[in-house]
Amino acid sequence: YVIGIDLGTSAVKALLVNKEGTVVKETSKEYPLIQEKSGYSEQDPEKWVKQTIAAIKDLTHTMKDADRIEGMSFSGQMHGLVLLDENNKPLRHAMLWNDTRTTEECREIEEKVGIETLHSITKNPALEGFTLPKLLWVKKNEPKVFAKAASFVLPKDYLRYRLTGEIQMEYSDAAGTLLLDVAEKKWSKQICEKVGISFELCPPLVASHANVGNVSEEIADQCGLAASVSVFAGGADNACGAIGSGILEDGVTLCSTGTSGVVLSYEEEGTKDFGGKVHYFNHGEESAFYTMGVTLAAGYSLSWFKDTFAADQSFEQILASASESPAGAKGLIFTPYIVGERTPHADADIRGSFIGMQATHTLGDFARAVIEGITLSLNETVEVFREHGKTVDKVISIGGGAKSELWLQMQADVFNAEVVKLKNEQGPGMGAAMLAAYGLGWFPSLKDCAQQFVETSDTYTPSSENVETYKKLFNIYKDVYPQTKQINK
Ligand code: XUL
Repeated sequence: YVIGIDLGTSAVKALLVNKEGTVVKETSKEYPLIQEKSGYSEQDPEKWVKQTIAAIKDLTHTMKDADRIEGMSFSGQMHGLVLLDENNKPLRHAMLWNDTRTTEECREIEEKVGIETLHSITKNPALEGFTLPKLLWVKKNEPKVFAKAASFVLPKDYLRYRLTGEIQMEYSDAAGTLLLDVAEKKWSKQICEKVGISFELCPPLVASHANVGNVSEEIADQCGLAASVSVFAGGADNACGAIGSGILEDGVTLCSTGTSGVVLSYEEEGTKDFGGKVHYFNHGEESAFYTMGVTLAAGYSLSWFKDTFAADQSFEQILASASESPAGAKGLIFTPYIVGERTPHADADIRGSFIGMQATHTLGDFARAVIEGITLSLNETVEVFREHGKTVDKVISIGGGAKSELWLQMQADVFNAEVVKLKNEQGPGMGAAMLAAYGLGWFPSLKDCAQQFVETSDTYTPSSENVETYKKLFNIYKDVYPQTKQINK
């Protein structure tokens, strides 16, 4: 067996997977977000460790053959800053990817490094969620804390350190710090110098499938594991989501709809130029990359809509009434910018809108417009990919949206591409398990592992009539942003 751990924002999920790729057991344990002020989002790293140990114990406590667990690896929420002292103790709570207090620091980075240089080295824009702005925020606002800093890591790297005693970071997560030279796969001395961050703070880098040690005896004891379990570095949640969905070759795209939504595509090279409009990160597969766009409020827009306008209905009821409304929701358009938007606008201040309301619109039309708006936003990333020469004709769809036939068909119609659902989809935790399986040498490559572990089920093909309807709608949708971006300024 292998264990795949997904250290998420609200909970840690643990999967026990056998050599055939079957999930034999799964469990999850929650932990709270700490939001002391508007825009702040933190977590106590100790809680990650405690709940992960509890989750592994959950997997092993009824097993008679726990000694057959050979390896373990990790997927983790990206970008979060865990600042460590010289004894590798966290100096403060972790600042998470959805913490937005660092707008000033982002502008400072752009000014000191230069937008073009930043882009050519890190391949990404300075966004509030990324790690470097957080380092600068602590340096400026908590100088006494920062003075004690000896290194920094990302959430799952800290968890792995606690299980093994070894400190490393791996490329797919390091790519989200704004300190990595993504194509060269090394920390950028130039950026460190320009922004005044000591190069010594950056931890050693390893590959996602690298064996970085074993579970310590003390932890093995607490979790019901053998101390010989090999630990593999793991990857960023989006990289692991890609691996777990078999996005391991050029030409296959992933659409993942959770609270936020992601459209992601495999890249062989690290040197293409997407104009900084989409993220460009290192893949969990060594020497590969991926590009990715993010819709900040995907599932979140739908749950906001339900809580605000239809709290007495279930999601199933809302989706059923949405499916009674025709493609285009009778001229009603929603833009899902209710907490700002990342791709392609990188605008934390923009807000959403309903446009084209008429007296005969029903709740079902509104629900359909919300789901369409989310999908049109995801299509902005698909469009950036296509404009930069990528082929998007097959999309693997995972997450909440992939549970609804209505939404899967809508994705096919809006993206004008074949949309494929997975069988027994497990998300990033499966990617983590696959990194362990590959790291252990069970398979000669991650691709071979995917052939065994990832199975597809239904395919949705675009309907030409709806494709035309959505093409027209998409052009109007794109006009809404420039017309409304001043609302909150
Ligand atoms: C990616 C991002 C999120 C987090 C969520 O850039 O910020 O997808 O990784 O866990």
